[in-house]
Amino acid sequence: MSGRSVLIVGGTGFLGRRMADAFVQAGDHVSVLSRGQRALEGVSAPVEHLFADRHDAVGLREALGERTFDVVVDNVAFDAADVASLLALLDMRVGHYLLTSSTAVYADRFTRRPIREADADLSVRTDADAPNPFHPRLGHAYANGKRAAEQVVRQSRVAWTILRAPVIVGAHDRTGRVWWFVQRLLDGGPIVIPDWGAGRIFQVAWVDDVARAFVAAARQPPPIRRTYNVAQAEIFSSETWVAACARALGVAARYVHVPESSLGERGLDGYTLPIAGRPFGHMLLDIGAIRCELGFEPSAEKVWLNATIQGCAANPPTVSSGGYDRRADETRLAAVGSTSC
Ligand SMILES: NC(=O)c1ccc[n+]([C@@H]2O[C@H](COP(=O)([O-])OP(=O)(O)OC[C@H]3O[C@@H](n4cnc5c(N)ncnc54)[C@H](OP(=O)(O)O)[C@@H]3O)[C@@H](O)[C@H]2O)c1
Repeated sequence: MSGRSVLIVGGTGFLGRRMADAFVQAGDHVSVLSRGQRALEGVSAPVEHLFADRHDAVGLREALGERTFDVVVDNVAFDAADVASLLALLDMRVGHYLLTSSTAVYADRFTRRPIREADADLSVRTDADAPNPFHPRLGHAYANGKRAAEQVVRQSRVAWTILRAPVIVGAHDRTGRVWWFVQRLLDGGPIVIPDWGAGRIFQVAWVDDVARAFVAAARQPPPIRRTYNVAQAEIFSSETWVAACARALGVAARYVHVPESSLGERGLDGYTLPIAGRPFGHMLLDIGAIRCELGFEPSAEKVWLNATIQGCAANPPTVSSGGYDRRADETRLAAVGSTSC
């Protein structure tokens, strides 16, 4: 099935532009909608660019008019109102609605077996001051909002698919999380791994594979009402993640374990590994459903990891990664660490 009309709400950012390109390459007619704060780059054919702030009902109505879409990917819905307002505006003029969600919806992620889609209790609303927020900036509001957004989707009458991704990595990750590791590995100094205790294994998702998963999901004939985890197959610990990144760069992996209590003593309050540490640390996902039902197979580690790590090294951000101004403190602390590689 190709040549469908596809609208990507929030289609010019890190994931959205990869989605736009993946749908274009599948032969679809793609429109992206954004506020226009950044241009759409990296898409292999021209796509229509609609401009509106999704929170501005009048502007959104003007941008979308009475148009119908075979597929709508809602890539930037962060709460119930976001989903409800878009679906109300489209008023069933959408064949298949897909929501970009997050594995943050799993309130209890410190389990010893891979988390399945049905494990999410979407009614959970976590207090703002509870420990272990999934999102470093938005805290528990992020997971609460994604759960609420999913609830609205599930209650709607449209055909829908929800895709839940863990930390998404790629060469052009604007959060700088990949760059955090690349910059430290390239300077040759060790990476400090605080001992945060048990429960530190995780998966990530490669941006191109997530985009491909959306295309695969959008290919399903209606009626569709399904939720899928999407992630790379590989399972990492902090140590194996550092080693894998180093391998992709062709440099030695150097890391040192330190007690968490030593961070504050050495001027490193708030230090964390932005992918393998707090708050994202533990995340082990069952991706059997997307594999079986959509025939989606994640790319091989060599492909996605090299593209991510080497791509980041080849196009480094213009600013240093988070906490790099304290890199000398990291190195000093590493010198008294207990075990190292
Ligand atoms: N990154 C991760 O690790 C991760 C993991 C799991 C799930 N996710 C999900 O992935 C999605 C983010 O995708 P992304 O990487 O493409 O995001 P992004 O790089 O932040 O891009 C956001 C996109 O949305 C547009 N946008 C933002 N606010 C808007 C508004 N009010 N109205 C209309 N357009 C708006 C932006 O363009 P303008 O600024 O020009 O409007 C841009 O096109 C989110 O749903 C997030 O929860 C991310």
